[in-house]
Amino acid sequence: MTDHNPALENLLTETRAFAPSEEFAAAANAKGDLYAHAEADRLEFWAEQARRHLTWDTPFTEVLDFSGAPTARWFADGRLNAAYNAVDRHVEAGNGDRTAILFEGEPGDTRTLTYADLQREVSKAANALESLGVATGDRVAIYLPMIPEAVIAMLACARIGAAHSVVFGGFSAEALYSRIIDADATAVITADGGYRRGKPSALKPAVDDALAKGETNVKHVLVVRRTEQDVAWTEGRDVWWHDALGEASAEHAPVAVEAEHPLFILYTSGTTGKPKGILHTTGGYLTQAAYTHWNVFDLKPETDVYWCTADVGWVTGHSYITYGPLINGATQVLYEGTPDTPHQGRWWEIVEKYGVTILYTAPTAIRTCMKWGDDVPAKFDLSSLRLLGSVGEPINPEAWMWYRRVIGGDKAPIVDTWWQTETGAIMISPLPGVTATKPGSAQVPLPGVSVSIWDDAGEAVGPGGGGYLVLDQPWPSMLRGIWGDEQRFSDTYWSRFPGTYFAGDGAKYDADGDIWLLGRVDDVMNISGHRLSTTEIESALVSHEWVAEAAVVGASDDTTGQAVVAFVILRGDAKEKTDEVGEGADVVAALRNHVASEIGPIAKPRSILVVAELPKTRSGKIMRRLLRDVAENRQVGDVTTLADSSVMDLISSGMKGSS
Ligand code: WT7
Repeated sequence: MTDHNPALENLLTETRAFAPSEEFAAAANAKGDLYAHAEADRLEFWAEQARRHLTWDTPFTEVLDFSGAPTARWFADGRLNAAYNAVDRHVEAGNGDRTAILFEGEPGDTRTLTYADLQREVSKAANALESLGVATGDRVAIYLPMIPEAVIAMLACARIGAAHSVVFGGFSAEALYSRIIDADATAVITADGGYRRGKPSALKPAVDDALAKGETNVKHVLVVRRTEQDVAWTEGRDVWWHDALGEASAEHAPVAVEAEHPLFILYTSGTTGKPKGILHTTGGYLTQAAYTHWNVFDLKPETDVYWCTADVGWVTGHSYITYGPLINGATQVLYEGTPDTPHQGRWWEIVEKYGVTILYTAPTAIRTCMKWGDDVPAKFDLSSLRLLGSVGEPINPEAWMWYRRVIGGDKAPIVDTWWQTETGAIMISPLPGVTATKPGSAQVPLPGVSVSIWDDAGEAVGPGGGGYLVLDQPWPSMLRGIWGDEQRFSDTYWSRFPGTYFAGDGAKYDADGDIWLLGRVDDVMNISGHRLSTTEIESALVSHEWVAEAAVVGASDDTTGQAVVAFVILRGDAKEKTDEVGEGADVVAALRNHVASEIGPIAKPRSILVVAELPKTRSGKIMRRLLRDVAENRQVGDVTTLADSSVMDLISSGMKGSS
């Protein structure tokens, strides 16, 4: 392992455990026998889940074909439609009046959509897309705020068999452009804007900018009206969503696609500068999304009110807002805004207002609320909550305990769920009615999932041992590749241990055999549960005319888990140029803004230090480990492999001078 984090090592002394109440255990969807059942015949177990949670147009007869490894085929001779499974079949079963979405806009506007409403809207949107020339097999980019149309747009694509590529609304025009090009999207669905921190925040201008950056194959831009901001309009290309849907029929026959038909592409950061388009297909992905949502969140569709606070721009929003919950017939809250607008109790107000029973959020949000104080949630009635979930990064025991005590009333089980964009759905998590939960540990692989921890040599370690987390058996919702880059797919995941999936995370077993995740072991950072690559930000920095060289590290941060810290060397001629804008602080501000415009505001470095040299080995490799020591105010580690060991003294004194 490249790094070892003393704070995380301390977690392994955690001895508290919280068993579910007898009442919870007795009523739980998943009982303890699920493990034995899956173990008896893993593939048959997954086939049962695929039949139980999905409705197939053509039933499958094959379960897994891994002859084309590392690309798996699951349920390959079956056919189905994702939107039909998420929407229509609930209406056909007589549940058309059940609420699917309880939408809460940031300004306080609300909308309720039943499953029948969703069927109508998704059908209209599917017809509208088809009339704009989008066909089965095409790709559609979606760049929307958290409004019901985001879910409707995804399902409309799925309904016609076009793959969606959702781009988080916080990403820049540049990031949107590169994703449109990479996936060769032929249409974009966006909005005039959304509400953020009490004011309208525009989206359409970024789409216009993206499409002006170069030649694309985008024929149409569908624009949802949300904020009523003025928008520039390209005649012939731009179409209002309400006009297109207004003219469209509310009847649409879902296209039954093969189980391995692409459902979506979602870009995520890797260890190089270029984001990877993670490809997910239909049958296996939906099987595991629905199965995990049912068992990990113990969903009772008639009585639960489920709320996942993620944005649909991330995989959590795909699997645990759009697909898992709707396939399971859930009633869920969809919230547009930030947790502290207009006040810091906004989330808890929403829990009280809708009687939320299941809440799924991220450690960074929990730590932020913790910082705001117990008296904020204390003002609201949170007694409806019966189950809490966490995802995105390791949750520290202190935040876990706070979540349990202050939000969960000391009774709601917490499920700490480990998974990735690539895994498509949850892989490691307690089962809430079975597992005695431990603060800070994701604990055990789900029934049907096989996980191992290997040492450097690829040997499995036992209880108490640590190393690299690997997934040693294929699983239904595994990625089917990196869009357009087969080689990178094998190199990234299947070459560290040939033939076995390497997740990029370090992990340890405690004495009981429970798994503790220890963070990434590669050059990937985790900022507020969002994945960012050091190289991607370095490329953004060096694309600025003042910058000669840049090195980026993730430094630990109390709230966001990690924070971006950059070290830059300015170009020789930058001195005069920077003089035009003024002193050092302005240089830093300009570079931070440059990163925001290249990637998005989430990638803005917390701090940028201008340095004369970077610590390099004799072969020219930047030693990020030493820079992380500086960024985290630690004694700088072993410098003997540096080409010039005095470099670190200069950088360290620069850091002290700047703070
Ligand atoms: C990386 C995946 C899965 C949706 C959100 C992030 C880290 C995720 C946990 C957890 C410890 C976690 C890992 C993983 N991670 N969940 N419960 N405990 N670490 O998806 O952007 O694909 O990032 O997030 O490091 O590799 P992602």
